[in-house]
Order: sequence, then structure tokens, then C-alpha cells
Amino acid sequence: MYVETATPARKPVTVPALQGMKARGEKITMLTCYDASFAAQVEAAGVDVALVGDSLGMVVQGRRSTLGVSVDDLAYHTRIVAGSLSSTLLIADLPYMSFRDTAHARDAAQRLVGECGAAMVKLEGAGWVCEIISDLVAREAPVCAHLGLMPQAVHRLGGYRVQGREHDDAERLLADALAVQAAGAQLLVLEAVPTELAARVTAALEIPVIGIGAGNACDGQVLVLYDMLGITPGRRPRFSKDFLATTGSVPAALRAYVDAVRQGRFPDAEHAY
Ligand code: KIV
Repeated sequence: MYVETATPARKPVTVPALQGMKARGEKITMLTCYDASFAAQVEAAGVDVALVGDSLGMVVQGRRSTLGVSVDDLAYHTRIVAGSLSSTLLIADLPYMSFRDTAHARDAAQRLVGECGAAMVKLEGAGWVCEIISDLVAREAPVCAHLGLMPQAVHRLGGYRVQGREHDDAERLLADALAVQAAGAQLLVLEAVPTELAARVTAALEIPVIGIGAGNACDGQVLVLYDMLGITPGRRPRFSKDFLATTGSVPAALRAYVDAVRQGRFPDAEHAY
């Protein structure tokens, strides 16, 4: 007699579980996600972390930067993604100016974590941002920091450029990474920095470091979903790879990404600095 056996449900990925993955040397897989259908695909592919990023301003809303994204936008997308996830950990971005002081940051975290189902909020920067991080963490809103290329700083940086190439910039970035960790961040996204610098930061930090354009020494990788499916219109970042082109279906592309990250095959030198 044929007895159908259900696939065992995956244990939910938690914030402390990410720390355990770093300790065991298991690569963490992360992708951005903005809607229910893709969230179901991301979960089915076994992605560890889904990020409702403010990149939605560019890839969903068609803006030229992330700066016009609001907490309302993040809340809308976070709620619908949360509804399709059961084991993948969900992080939501705090958009431009939404964490300009502790009161606004608390309100935004209350909506994204308290009402919409995110387990963590992500915010860009160090310096004065460390105080915001400590305040949120003390109020049980876990924080993922974001350093390197910070898209919300696009005007100051003069474009979407690789960060930390010069000695002083690299030292400042390492100091900032240690500072956000000391402030209580439990995860760090490091965007568009040379592989060697990302390796130093990853080795220096106790918390997991997730790279995007930061080489393969990081504890995990994240990509913008539409970039890695090759459907973002116009120029895509050099560090991103179109996994759909070689696999032919969305589920296969997502699985190929997960396998490549877990096995340390992505990013290769072609997709790093
Ligand atoms: O907003 C976003 O999608 C991000 C990723 C690029 C990490 O911050």
C-alpha cells in the first residue's frame, strides 16, 4: 500500500538560530521579497531569511532611488509577505528618515514588528544610528544593521559605488561594524565592499555578516530577488547573477541560488570586488 508521507515542516529560522549558523560555519541564505506569491516560492526553496527591502521603491515602484519609500509601503509589503511565510525569518527595512530619532524609529518598529509580522528591522548607518539601534534592541525589536554602500546615502556618496577601497575608509567601516555590534545589532548586511575587507569584518564580528557584492567570505549572502531572476529593468549591479537564465524556472532558480550560497560557489570572483 502506498502511504503518502508529508515533507517534514522546516523548523522556523529564528534570530538566535542565525548566530548558531555562523558558529557552525553554515552559510545563511537571504533574498528580498515583496509579495505573497514570491514569498511562498522563497520559503519553498528553503531560503533562511526574507527581506522586505526598501529596494521595493526601485524594483516594484519604479523609482530612481529608495528615498521615496514610506513606512506605509513597508508595512503593506511586510504584512503580505509575512502571511506566506512559516519558517523563513522575515526582516523589514526602516526606510529613509523613518528612524531619524528614537520616537520615529520606535513607531516604525512597532508597525513592522508588532503589527505586520517582521522578526527584525534593518537600518542603514552607524554613528548616531547606534543610539537608535540600542533603543530598539532594548525594546525587543531585534536589529539588522546595514553598512558599506548604503542606498539611502546615495546623494552623499554620489552614486551607487563600491565602498571601503581606500585604507581610511576601510578602517572606518570596520570600526562602524564593531560599533553597530556593540550597540546590539544581531545581524549585519554589508553591501558593495572589496572581498578582503568583508572577510576582515566577518572575522572580527561575533554576529553574522550577510554580504551583497562583498565576496564569499561573509557568513551569508543576500540579493535583490528581481535582480537574481533577471527581471529588474535596466542595468543590474555587477555583483548580482541571473539564476533564472541557466535554470529556466523560478523554483529552480531559487534552489540554484540557495545551493550555490550554501556550497560557497556564489559569489565567485566575477560577482565580487
Ligand atoms: O533594500 C534592500 O533590498 C536591501 C538589500 C540590497 C540588502 O537593503
